[in-house]
Amino acid sequence: MDATSLESLEMALQASPGNSALRLVVVRGWLSLGLGERAGRVAADAAPDLALDEAGQRDFARALSAVEKWQAALGYLSGAEAETLIERSRVLLALDRRTDAAESYRLAVQKNPTLEDEKLAALLRSREPEAVKARPGAPRLRVVANDDTDKSAVSKLVQAEAPRLAFKDVGGLSEVKSEIHRRIVLPFQKPSLFERFRKRAGGGVLLYGPPGCGKTLLARATAGECTATFMAVAISDILDMYIGESERKLHAIFEEARRKPPAVLFFDELEALAGKRKASRDGVAAKIVSQFLSEMDGFAQNNKGVLILGATNVPWEIDAAFRRPGRFDRVLFVPPPDREARASIIDILLRDRPVAEVDREGLANATSGFSGADLENVVETAADFAIEESIRLGQEMPIRQEHVQKALASVRPTTSEWLSSARNFARYANEGGQYDEVLAFLKKHGKA
Ligand SMILES: Nc1ncnc2c1ncn2[C@@H]1O[C@H](COP(=O)(O)OP(=O)(O)OP(=O)(O)O)[C@@H](O)[C@H]1O
Ligand SMILES: [Mg+2]
Repeated sequence: MDATSLESLEMALQASPGNSALRLVVVRGWLSLGLGERAGRVAADAAPDLALDEAGQRDFARALSAVEKWQAALGYLSGAEAETLIERSRVLLALDRRTDAAESYRLAVQKNPTLEDEKLAALLRSREPEAVKARPGAPRLRVVANDDTDKSAVSKLVQAEAPRLAFKDVGGLSEVKSEIHRRIVLPFQKPSLFERFRKRAGGGVLLYGPPGCGKTLLARATAGECTATFMAVAISDILDMYIGESERKLHAIFEEARRKPPAVLFFDELEALAGKRKASRDGVAAKIVSQFLSEMDGFAQNNKGVLILGATNVPWEIDAAFRRPGRFDRVLFVPPPDREARASIIDILLRDRPVAEVDREGLANATSGFSGADLENVVETAADFAIEESIRLGQEMPIRQEHVQKALASVRPTTSEWLSSARNFARYANEGGQYDEVLAFLKKHGKA
């Protein structure tokens, strides 16, 4: 339901405040739009003897939590269903009744293990939950020195994450997102459930695709989504002119990750470290590849709870040995955005900027072959035009259709070049079907 219909329902509610079914519809509507505050206000206005089933009570409690009316929320959480117990645990924690909160959580997960929530569990375990909450921007990475590499050296190699991103900041790519959710986010969130099915968190996932289509963005959003330690490795810092030094640094980084599972090690522009061995002239690159391969080997190393995430736009330059089982055994194609994905990328790019009458659908239709970065280029250029105009007129002028139109004329799509090289590899060097996803994509768009 959209905000306008909810607003008229809210008016109807004022005429008959005792209508509990209607009140519940409105509360749920606001919650589903992510507007917890509005839901909270509607829930708070309810008469105390309101007739609601347990699921309804739970939603009222969620709404009241959004406006931090914890006591009132608790009043709706006397049911015994597992979902209710989880909610109760959250509210009790907010009220600083930690022992009760922990007990409620334990009962909930006992009843329904899929409700396990590692974030909540961590808060319940920690002594100072407020300290954790109060520092959203603080780096989540702690670095412990290993024997032969000093602390500052390791921390330089592994960059703490900049602002937190989430999947909602990445447009389209729903298949890749759900695969990442299944492979990376869930196993770390619900460790004992996975344990019971003898599934281990870890292994390797490689993202590949044309430049500017969201590989790096997706990896950074993964960091924001998952509760694991996320370590982005700066490859240029690993490469070292001194013999043996690069291997030593690589080893130190893997040791670091093994020391604090669950951890995700992210290697962007992977080809720089994992390029084909025969291509190297001096043998130095070959040594790094061998070191990397042996670090990744689950048999030789205790990589339990360590997931290696890699990204590259030249997958055909990655040494084939990296594709063996236990290494990058999941390879995901990050395709150029289709029309729908472009529309959502455009929405993300225009969000938080002053915009008037821009035909977003039309822009999505007119940008076939554009990567996310190309679209960003269009929007940035349009914003420049709007700024220029604002300065000229002495008042803020929002981005308009004509700015976008003018910007569009100056930006060329960049994905086709990549797709034509990929087509050759997919046709003539598709060992083990590794480029099947690319072929399917080309076929779907009539370019195979
Ligand atoms: N799916 C997307 N949703 C939102 N923005 C996107 C998306 N794809 C690309 N962009 C925009 O394009 C920029 C470049 O994307 P990104 O750095 O993730 O590309 P990449 O696939 O890593 O490219 P490369 O292979 O060149 O490293 C992003 O910062 C973002 O602004
Ligand atoms: Mg990138």
